[in-house]
Amino acid sequence: MDAPATGWTENGTDRSPDATLIHRTLTEISPVADQATSYFYALLFIRYPDLRDLFPVSMDVQRDRLLRAILTAADRLDDPDALAEYLGELGRGHRKYGTLPAHYPAVGEALLGALSRYATTTWDAETEAAWVRAYTAISQIMIDAAAEDEQRAPARWHAEVVSHDLRTRDIAILTVRPDQAYPYLAGQYAAMETPWWPRNWRHYSFASAPRPDGLLTFHIKAVPAGWVSSALVYRARPGDILRLGPPTGSMTVDHSTHTGLLCLGGGTGIGPIKALVEDVAEHGDRRPVEVFYGARSGHDLYDIDTMMRLQKTYPWLEVRTVVSTGPGTEGALKGLLPEAVRQCGPWHEYDAYLSGPPGMIRSSVDVLRGIGMPAERIRHDCVEEMTTTGPA
Ligand SMILES: Cc1cc2nc3c(=O)[nH]c(=O)nc-3n(C[C@H](O)[C@H](O)[C@H](O)COP(=O)(O)OP(=O)(O)OC[C@H]3O[C@@H](n4cnc5c(N)ncnc54)[C@H](O)[C@@H]3O)c2cc1C
Ligand code: HEM
Repeated sequence: MDAPATGWTENGTDRSPDATLIHRTLTEISPVADQATSYFYALLFIRYPDLRDLFPVSMDVQRDRLLRAILTAADRLDDPDALAEYLGELGRGHRKYGTLPAHYPAVGEALLGALSRYATTTWDAETEAAWVRAYTAISQIMIDAAAEDEQRAPARWHAEVVSHDLRTRDIAILTVRPDQAYPYLAGQYAAMETPWWPRNWRHYSFASAPRPDGLLTFHIKAVPAGWVSSALVYRARPGDILRLGPPTGSMTVDHSTHTGLLCLGGGTGIGPIKALVEDVAEHGDRRPVEVFYGARSGHDLYDIDTMMRLQKTYPWLEVRTVVSTGPGTEGALKGLLPEAVRQCGPWHEYDAYLSGPPGMIRSSVDVLRGIGMPAERIRHDCVEEMTTTGPA
């Protein structure tokens, strides 16, 4: 599930008394969010220097995400079901960082320190008590979820690179062998850490449905000056050991219906789309699957051979290519992916699956909503997260 909110404050009415106090604090600190974040980490690391080792050396890319998540979760206390799902997944995911139950009070202390310093006009004993209750509830959900997860899954997996195939100047297909069973669903993704950038975790989507040999495949594009992606594309070699967090994400196929699948894969977004196609094939479904594979030019359609092979094998699958600027391949549609999809509609009987750069996902959602597709029939990875960590 996506984070429950995207901003520092959300509009709302009918709040509980605690939620009203919390919202008041958030409104006050919203304009000074950057300073509050810096102060939060300064307090945390000065008072608890041992915790610094859990975090990446450079924390500029996504340093506001921890505090922002606490604040947005606190602002959603009145929606316990959504919170429980989101925080449960977050708590399980925190095991890979080495987070322990004993660390939560330290973060809570830094949180209260930062809030009381930056919400000077609204902070009082009553507000502080509301925040303590909120943070305690949030932490407890994460701690409980992590404890439960500990009974059945490792905190992280080690995975040996078994093949590295440089497909274009900046895209590589990596296949890895996890050190123990790694159950996941087609369409999901995992956080990955490389030996070259310790504690810098980035998300990558599984580019095949679960395989009998247990190997995992990822399609990685090196982004300009991107630390982890460049290391994976230009440096990783067979024998290197990567670390993986648990599988996550909800862009998975609903096998309880026979609705068609409209799949949009932009760039390396074709990886998880290919996984979905394999998943449909394995389930023996004969439901229509329409894939739109977009890239800048025909040269960037690095996995077109695989997609065409799948199309030849499965009569229910149609693959169309869309190129935006450069020369295309034979039969490729010209223009932007969402526009091409719109022109080939209507898509009344389809569920949509979107994977690719955040801009592509946003404009695809707009186009699909514009042609009348209900929001609940459109599935994609977390766009907010991609905005902070960089798109595929
Ligand atoms: C759910 C999810 C699934 C993902 N799946 C994949 C996948 O399957 N394959 C894949 O290659 N990536 C995928 N990503 C993106 C990936 O997680 C990283 O964000 C990406 O590899 C960049 O990480 P980095 O460490 O190399 O760059 P960073 O060091 O984090 O960023 C370096 C700089 O580059 C900028 N930047 C980041 N991305 C881009 C970009 N595309 N173009 C230009 N500048 C950029 C950043 O803003 C920053 O200034 C996925 C992201 C999410 C959230
Ligand atoms: C209520 C409590 C907390 C919330 C809501 C929270 C939320 C988050 C979120 C949303 C992220 C972004 C990456 C991800 O989704 O995994 C994150 C990262 C992280 N969190 Fe937490 N967190 C909490 C408590 C803690 C605690 C107690 C620790 C341990 C000290 C911790 C350590 C980390 C680390 C090491 C990262 C990675 C940072 C990075 O990559 O820059 N978190 N947290």
